[in-house]
Amino acid sequence: MHRAAQASLGPLESWFVLERASGFDRARLVPRLDDPVPARTVAFVEAMVARRAAGEPLQYVLGVWGFRRLELVVDRRALIPRPETEVVVEVALGELDRLGLVAPVAVDLGTGSGAIALSLALEAPRARVWGTDRSAEALAVARANLAGMGSRVATRVRLAEGDWFAALPDELRGRVDLVVANPPYVAAGEALPEEVAGWEPAGALVAGPTGLEDVARIVAEAPAWLARPGVVVVEIAPHQAGEAEALARQAGFDPVTVKPDLAGRLRALVGRVGR
Ligand SMILES: C[S@@+](CC[C@H](N)C(=O)[O-])C[C@H]1O[C@@H](n2cnc3c(N)ncnc32)[C@H](O)[C@@H]1O
Repeated sequence: MHRAAQASLGPLESWFVLERASGFDRARLVPRLDDPVPARTVAFVEAMVARRAAGEPLQYVLGVWGFRRLELVVDRRALIPRPETEVVVEVALGELDRLGLVAPVAVDLGTGSGAIALSLALEAPRARVWGTDRSAEALAVARANLAGMGSRVATRVRLAEGDWFAALPDELRGRVDLVVANPPYVAAGEALPEEVAGWEPAGALVAGPTGLEDVARIVAEAPAWLARPGVVVVEIAPHQAGEAEALARQAGFDPVTVKPDLAGRLRALVGRVGR
């Protein structure tokens, strides 16, 4: 079974598939590799290998993927959470710490699978967190992930559907301590790998002709929703750093910085108001 999977997928991906099918991690799987395998496990592995061979991203094939401390349900209704977004969460948590509030209010705009919102709720144990999305399908994935969180986290998270800030109740105006977003930031017509363009939701990736349309809207509208002091943290593409920084300054944020991801590429726009 291991050799058959490896012949089609290569060593790393075949381990992921076998771990998923067996329910064992690699350390527990290795001593069992010569054990007989139930027919349903064989069928599950074969189905995953066929999907992967057809070009479907490994994360969708597995149906679950790790993000910081979470194991999230992922499927084609929502973007696959990326490692660079884990760094955006780290930056957002640092900003929450700096604010030093007892029960901060954080909003994750465009929550997709819920990766950012649920990580904030888990790792900032007193934060009250809103996750919003325009896509009802993505929110269904976030809801499935929220359901797996346990009540200590789940009772502090609300999910809402709508266009950026319009998803939020009006009472939150001026009361949000942290706005964080990983919005679409690809320009229309920009080349994307087939594995991304062919499988992930276009509405999660492409912003418009320049790629900065959604970043610009979020940064412009955030001051009206933020408390003072307040912070906005937005994931961007590295080449957008200069323009994104200028947009944040125009909106009244000061100071504005852009923090790098683990590959050293400028990734997280941070704007503060009312220091
Ligand atoms: C790049 S994905 C990020 C998903 C998730 N936050 C993550 O980091 O994995 C962008 C998300 O923004 C949502 N989105 C796009 N346009 C939106 C809009 N106008 N209002 C609200 N959400 C929007 C998409 O549906 C998608 O879930």
